[in-house]
Amino acid sequence: MKLKLALIGFGVVGQGLVEILLEEQQKLKQQYGFECQVAAVSDKLKGSAYHPDGLDMGKLLEMVKNNQSLSDYEGAETTGWDSLTTITKSNANTIVEVSWTDVQTGEPAITHVKTALAAGKHVTMTNKGPVALAAKELGELAKQNNVMLKFEGTVMAGTPAINLCLNNLAGAGITEIQGILNGTTNYILTEMENGMEYAAALQKAQELGYAEADPTGDVEGWDALAKVVILSNVVLNYHLTKDQVEREGITKITSADIAKAKEQGKRYKLIATMKLQSDGSVKGSVKPEKISLSHPLAGVSGPTNALMFRTKYVDDITIMGPGAGKAATGFALLADLIEINRATAV
Ligand code: HSE
Repeated sequence: MKLKLALIGFGVVGQGLVEILLEEQQKLKQQYGFECQVAAVSDKLKGSAYHPDGLDMGKLLEMVKNNQSLSDYEGAETTGWDSLTTITKSNANTIVEVSWTDVQTGEPAITHVKTALAAGKHVTMTNKGPVALAAKELGELAKQNNVMLKFEGTVMAGTPAINLCLNNLAGAGITEIQGILNGTTNYILTEMENGMEYAAALQKAQELGYAEADPTGDVEGWDALAKVVILSNVVLNYHLTKDQVEREGITKITSADIAKAKEQGKRYKLIATMKLQSDGSVKGSVKPEKISLSHPLAGVSGPTNALMFRTKYVDDITIMGPGAGKAATGFALLADLIEINRATAV
């Protein structure tokens, strides 16, 4: 099956995916038998365009770069469709949900995903809201409609985390996960340790594209909390809700605190913890912790993320890599799309 994509949202991540597709299309076809078209793009601010035979990816990127509305795309069959019309009326068989994340309500992304699955379309998303708030319901809906629901990029961008747990670590008996799951805050803490003030470090994290549209979600720990909920639900198989996770951000940490920790041979990190309890429940938290420099997560600096798995059969496993960024997150979508293509190939 040739994948026909509709992108819901065309911000940094969606553009990241299209850039990779454009650059790698020949290689992807040769090596993985992977072929796809972008049939539709619908973005609340950047406009929308649809052509059943595919839009020109280079032209889409060029128009956005030049601040032209996609609704002015010449040669499109239709322009101006909103997200739900794009999902239901386009001939796309796979929806790429990359609209903005709202981890409080999950909307409008939850509605986008439900609509797509109910219409028999595969979904890949980097949007954390739907997975954090409705993973089970959406998983069941996907099953009922015999389609795939993928979300590798919701945790650690393109660094394999979700698929690693679900595939390679299935059966390893994960009992605890500890991690650094927010690039913005880790970047800020690293820069503060190097002498930069909090506000300047946050501004730089925004400029570099690590932060969410509203960085409160990063610095107050909501983004990492959403990832804790996702990992607990999807990997540890325990339905943890966002209200059950202890949460504290980094906004109360001062440069003086950081300097003091340094004198003690320690370092502040925003640590996410998920611990399986003897009754099968999971205790989750996100909070700044002063860890010793010999801790496996102490050396994880800048926007890098890391996850440490304590397992029954393989002991401890630690992975680290980018947790944000245009190409790294765009690639997470591609990894999902390649898997959808493999699974649906006839
Ligand atoms: N704002 C997030 C971060 C992006 O800083 O890690 C990836 O979820």
